[in-house]
Amino acid sequence: MSPQRLGIALAFSIAAYAAPAAADTTLDYEFFKAKVEPIFLKKRDDHVRCYVCHTENNAAFKLEKLPEGATFWTEEQSRRQFEAISQLVVPGNPAQSRLLLQPLALEAGGNPYHSGGRQFPNKNDPYWKTMEQWVMGQKISAK
Ligand code: HEC
Repeated sequence: MSPQRLGIALAFSIAAYAAPAAADTTLDYEFFKAKVEPIFLKKRDDHVRCYVCHTENNAAFKLEKLPEGATFWTEEQSRRQFEAISQLVVPGNPAQSRLLLQPLALEAGGNPYHSGGRQFPNKNDPYWKTMEQWVMGQKISAK
């Protein structure tokens, strides 16, 4: 390669290197299992748990029954839930994600009607934020 062409090639590779990397918003299964699924089981203040209604009703947000005596889903169940619940969010776009909007209070930007009530009063709710982080592609290793 001539010195001139080498210079051009170098300029190109530096430009590519310096360009901001597109954010990786792929949904992380480990984050979902460790941080998001527990929210569906957790009793928070005076709210009915997501699990109580969403194992029984036929909303698109459908949780599986825990195995007899178990306190958490099996690996296969978690995998299936990850696939199904991923359909209710738009990676990188919380404002388009039903999982985030349906249980959020209307004044905080949530959807107007959720039979399960205002599960999260606003976007500062730590559990809501955790779900948002998942939608934004946060990985478990990144904590
Ligand atoms: C008291 C029962 C109840 C509880 C508790 C409840 N929900 Fe619901 N939820 C419903 C019902 C019924 C629907 C379907 C009709 C509607 O949207 O209101 C629904 C719908 C939804 C939807 C929309 C699904 C679709 O069809 O697109 C999402 C997402 C959702 N709930 C998330 C949650 C989350 C997350 C929690 C817990 C933080 C929760 N819900 C707690 C009853 C409940």
